[in-house]
Amino acid sequence: MTHEALKALLDGMTLEEKAGQLTQCNAGQFISVDAEITGPEGQPLPAEELNRVLGSVLTFENAGQARQLQDLHLAADRNRIPLLLMVDVIHGMKTTYPIPLAMGCSFDDGLMAECAAMACREAAAAGVHVTFNPMVDTARDARWGRILETCSEEPLINSRMGAALVRTTQGDDLADPEHIACCVKHYAAYGAAEAGRDYNTVEISERALRESYLPAYRACLDAGARLIMPSFNSLNGIPSVANKWLMNTVLHDEWGFRGVVISDYDAVGELVTHGVAADMKEAVCLAMAAGCDIDMVKCAYYQYLPELVREGRVPEKALDDAVMRVLELKNELGLFENPYHGADEETEKRLNLCPAHREIARRAAEESAVLLKNDGVLPLKKDIRKLALIGPFAEEKRLNGFWSRPGAEKYTVTLPEGIRDLMPELELTVVRGCGAELGDTDAGGLAEAEEAARNAEAVVLCLGEPEHDSGEGRSRTDVTLPGAQLALAEAVMKANPNTAVLLFNGRPLVLTELEKIAPAILEMWYPGTEAGHAAARLLWGNANPCGKLSVGLPRSTGQYPMPYNRTNTGRPKPQPDSGVFPFSSSYLDTPNLPLYSFGHGLSYTTFEYVKLTLDKKAIRKEDSLTVTVTVRNTGSMPGKEAVQLYLRDPVASVVRPVQQLIDYQKIRLEPGEKQDVVFTVTEKQLRFISFDCEEVSEPGVFELSTGHADHLKLTDRFTLEA
Ligand code: NOJ
Repeated sequence: MTHEALKALLDGMTLEEKAGQLTQCNAGQFISVDAEITGPEGQPLPAEELNRVLGSVLTFENAGQARQLQDLHLAADRNRIPLLLMVDVIHGMKTTYPIPLAMGCSFDDGLMAECAAMACREAAAAGVHVTFNPMVDTARDARWGRILETCSEEPLINSRMGAALVRTTQGDDLADPEHIACCVKHYAAYGAAEAGRDYNTVEISERALRESYLPAYRACLDAGARLIMPSFNSLNGIPSVANKWLMNTVLHDEWGFRGVVISDYDAVGELVTHGVAADMKEAVCLAMAAGCDIDMVKCAYYQYLPELVREGRVPEKALDDAVMRVLELKNELGLFENPYHGADEETEKRLNLCPAHREIARRAAEESAVLLKNDGVLPLKKDIRKLALIGPFAEEKRLNGFWSRPGAEKYTVTLPEGIRDLMPELELTVVRGCGAELGDTDAGGLAEAEEAARNAEAVVLCLGEPEHDSGEGRSRTDVTLPGAQLALAEAVMKANPNTAVLLFNGRPLVLTELEKIAPAILEMWYPGTEAGHAAARLLWGNANPCGKLSVGLPRSTGQYPMPYNRTNTGRPKPQPDSGVFPFSSSYLDTPNLPLYSFGHGLSYTTFEYVKLTLDKKAIRKEDSLTVTVTVRNTGSMPGKEAVQLYLRDPVASVVRPVQQLIDYQKIRLEPGEKQDVVFTVTEKQLRFISFDCEEVSEPGVFELSTGHADHLKLTDRFTLEA
């Protein structure tokens, strides 16, 4: 449709019809769906009335439902404006790939793009038009259950992975039925919820916001994301959906965003609960003034916008502009010509869980697992005949994590299945041992577990946190291993020291006690559909672990916040990080550093960092510096290594972090092979946010290092000239 045709359509609409375009309802109000609802249920208005004017629908599961929704609506809408169908396709539609936090640990933007392309193919065939993805909140606190939805505590990783996801999902032409639009979220700083309690208040300086929180949203918009979702939280006193500074000053004026803004679930209505609007009608005024185009789920816009326009409290122009943005998105998706977009039951059947998609999911699960510790137990010997698989996750099917689609566990390859596929001759004993629920102290299964461990040549102990304990609204104050799992670990390892631990969890857990007794720990996160195959291949070395932590793992919950890119303070704790140093910035009862630092991850092979070479000693603003890191595989297995480049700006007008990741590349090396990894450093990477909130670089000396956080190696210096 031409712009003129869209304009004519808009001109012919009543105020109620316009407000309808800005209203999103649950699909469940119109058809029967088995969908996860992440907020209070219930619509205040009759479905029949809404269906005539509705603009968009939230959450359904397949092409049949997509077509049904569209048909129902088009038959009722006199303007025949197709619905926009939106779903949270976060880490897969039917074929589930690892949770975003795990994907961050792959340090591989290309792998993220492959996974996103796979999810997009399945989602498009299911009739999805918009996914509420990527989520790029900087999250540094494991108490916050939604930390699993983000790739990393580091905005650089979130920016690169988020942008990769947006580009592959949206493609070059949104009208192409194989592509769908992306909605980046949750703008802004939702991950900084006070004390890690979900939905909680965020107070953060503009400087910190611009430095550590805003860049990833911006990167996804620069990559072309068509929609953005303001966050639930209040930011410096104003909830995001009504925050004019965030939405008008930064998003529109500074970043030039012209796409669609959609509230989070009932966030407009919640302005009343926050206490910045006296009632729903005022809430609508505030959200409209801040530039929120679509109201998710509670129909506040539909109920109040027409009368607010009639009363002159919301300019009709503001309403028209918002509706136009929605119509333009529908037009770009080609919905006026083909309202079903990619919805096709045949394609869906062919693609969902097809071998090619399972292969991508399996590879992603392998490459995002992080080998935290290994005293030689792993990989398991190929000639082991008797293996005990013990623990609450030994036979678990729910290994997909929050935001896997309903019923995803039906398709999960469990550990016993994966192991039997790889090692059919093996004698496998599976014992649960104990539960993993919060507060579950039942240790009645320990004796049986001990017995199984004693009778086996090796043990794989599967521990973690149940799937439903991380995700939206799932905060904890103590992120240790729940239930009697530690007691189980002690009993099992005493019975058989040849034990490797596999961890399944959505948030970083405190592993301090486990680390003392476990000879090997492999962090699997929630690996998704191919969990069992990936785990088996990693256990026997058919796949070599190559994940690196995209978030540090704490020694105790009380360490939060503990960003890897901390500042020095005026009284840094002397190194090594043990013992008590009065009047230094430290704790009496625990070291400062995490148990496992950001960027850490072992392999079955070893890598030597041979040298770091800078092609210049000094650069000017317009120059670039070529940094070469030479890495050699000194072990006996092929392996992948995420080579990380860190910056330190030792003297600046504001305090700078002791280490800042500025680039990374993942390489593969055969045994004995050596490779030069080349990074280009420009002045842009030396910039920071000044006290006056400007993005600046300052001349002076900079340090570059490789290795990983808290364990930097091969440092060299260069100067940025005035
Ligand atoms: C609430 C969540 O905060 C958001 O991430 C999600 O996209 C919406 N619900 C829709 O399901």
